[in-house]
Amino acid sequence: MSGRSDGRDGLFIVFEGVEGAGKSTQIRNVSRRLHENGVDHLLVREPGGTAVGEQARALVLDPRLEMCPESELFLYLTSRAEFVRRLVIPALEHDRLVLADRYELSTFAYQGAARGLDLEPVRAANRLATGGLTADLTILLRIDPERGLGRQSGEADRLESERAEFHQAVARAYDSMAESDPTIVSVVSDAAREDVHELIWRELSVRWPDRFPRDEAHTGNIWSADEFQDRSPASSGEATEATGQEAE
Ligand code: TMP
Repeated sequence: MSGRSDGRDGLFIVFEGVEGAGKSTQIRNVSRRLHENGVDHLLVREPGGTAVGEQARALVLDPRLEMCPESELFLYLTSRAEFVRRLVIPALEHDRLVLADRYELSTFAYQGAARGLDLEPVRAANRLATGGLTADLTILLRIDPERGLGRQSGEADRLESERAEFHQAVARAYDSMAESDPTIVSVVSDAAREDVHELIWRELSVRWPDRFPRDEAHTGNIWSADEFQDRSPASSGEATEATGQEAE
């Protein structure tokens, strides 16, 4: 089954949401179930995933650094340009399934809406970084931003440390993009992890049943992100690359 309008079988699926929405956990649980079903895929995160991207991530999230919104934008786009060219496009060209933890909607929501950068040049700069590559589907995990932040543990990074209104603006921007874009599917993530997983899997399965088979007998044996780390593909010898770190 061809998943892309350009006729390739590669499929690019992105997970988005405010801080603490559970993206990282959910994307890993989807990855884990794909492994169970023997479906080859690549799991990547943004910013990061490449050597340049990880360094840009460290810079942009460092809570000790102050930077103007424009610098912040370009650090995210630096990561994205590498991410698209070194990871995503090569994988899609080999008809692989790519699962990404964040992509361009984060930029529109965080740097556009919340930082207040003019959206038109932000979109243009983003297009330069992506070469126009868009996701086939975005799963938007929705949660009240305050509740999401409350679920975070550890030292807050530069973005997490922003005031409540910033995170509310991010959430509103996501919602408004989801209203007008049929490639964004909203999933309420303020529920049991297993239930949210089933909702996500169902959304994927109705669109691409070959890649996301419905095994009715699925036991819901879901790993947390931490457990996933322990069983990372590097140690299990599987083909998927996991580059994310946080247990949201
Ligand atoms: P993460 O913690 O979900 O990996 O995301 C890193 C942070 O970077 C998160 O606060 C969202 C933010 N971000 C942006 O502000 N713009 C972007 O383009 C991306 C990809 C992430």
